[in-house]
Amino acid sequence: MQKSILAILHYNQGEYISGEEISRQLAVSRSAVWKHIKALREEGYQIESSSRLGYRLVSQLDLLLPDIIQRELETRILGKEIYHYTSLDSTNNKAKSLAQEGSPEGTLVLAEEQTGGKGRLGRQWVSPFAKGLWFSLILRPPIAPMDATKIVILTAVALQEAIVDLTKLPVKIKWPNDLLLGEKKITGILLEMNGELDTINYLVLGIGINVNLQEEDFPESLRERVTSLAVGLGEKLSRLNLLRAVLQKLEEHYFAFLGGEFSFLLEKWKKSSCTLGKRVRVTTPNGLIEGIALDYNQDGSLLVETAPGQIRKITSGDVNLF
Ligand code: BTN
Repeated sequence: MQKSILAILHYNQGEYISGEEISRQLAVSRSAVWKHIKALREEGYQIESSSRLGYRLVSQLDLLLPDIIQRELETRILGKEIYHYTSLDSTNNKAKSLAQEGSPEGTLVLAEEQTGGKGRLGRQWVSPFAKGLWFSLILRPPIAPMDATKIVILTAVALQEAIVDLTKLPVKIKWPNDLLLGEKKITGILLEMNGELDTINYLVLGIGINVNLQEEDFPESLRERVTSLAVGLGEKLSRLNLLRAVLQKLEEHYFAFLGGEFSFLLEKWKKSSCTLGKRVRVTTPNGLIEGIALDYNQDGSLLVETAPGQIRKITSGDVNLF
């Protein structure tokens, strides 16, 4: 409830909104609204009240409201339709049902918070309120299902470029698609597919970026392995600007790929890699593989030299670097 009140105040962009209007929108009593406003103030939000005019948020939050995103978004399809939620279990799940109902390519689903954020390999993705970018895009590319991994590659490249452009942080890509700052993960990509053997009905491209989380926002068990851009920079970053930059880069690379240009993206992927040349231990569905990460194949698989002259091709797995 508090988050919904915050979103309403934020939406009003510093203007007053009456307690009556808030209670009507949220279907709660005016005294409940007052109680939540009091709690928000105690949390540090500056909310002014006037008996005649109602409430207003003094300092603006960095919420991801659709019309604010679109105001300066220079894309043709990505984010032309936006669904924004204060809280969702997972933006991928919501995007899937929207895709099923026929939402067009480029539809963007955003949540300020995810209560059941999904990571790869059945893991959980920590997604606290208004601290990161947790979103999914619906794509309907006219490609074969086996080429869908190329979309993950071009997404990793777009994320890396947008983040480096904005922050100048030395962010690198760990195979297959994690972005690392130092040795800690800052972004994740989860691509889910719906289709037949030879056609794709739709893809849901889920992206998580740890933007303004502090160390204590992560469970202790993860702190060794994950971090955020704000921790790396020593200051907060505008999620809105980063989101726009990512969507723009992503669309540029997506269109290039659909136009038949993929090799330059593969080159960029290799150039930003922190995996190649390193000693790796890869947990694959077929067991553990250790060796030197030599190269990437055209299809995005990883070539590992396990012994002199012996090369294994790995299509999926989890890499540990040494
Ligand atoms: C990974 O394990 O590296 C992938 C993490 C993907 C997280 C994002 S956050 C937005 C979208 N919704 C989800 O439930 N997961 C993805």
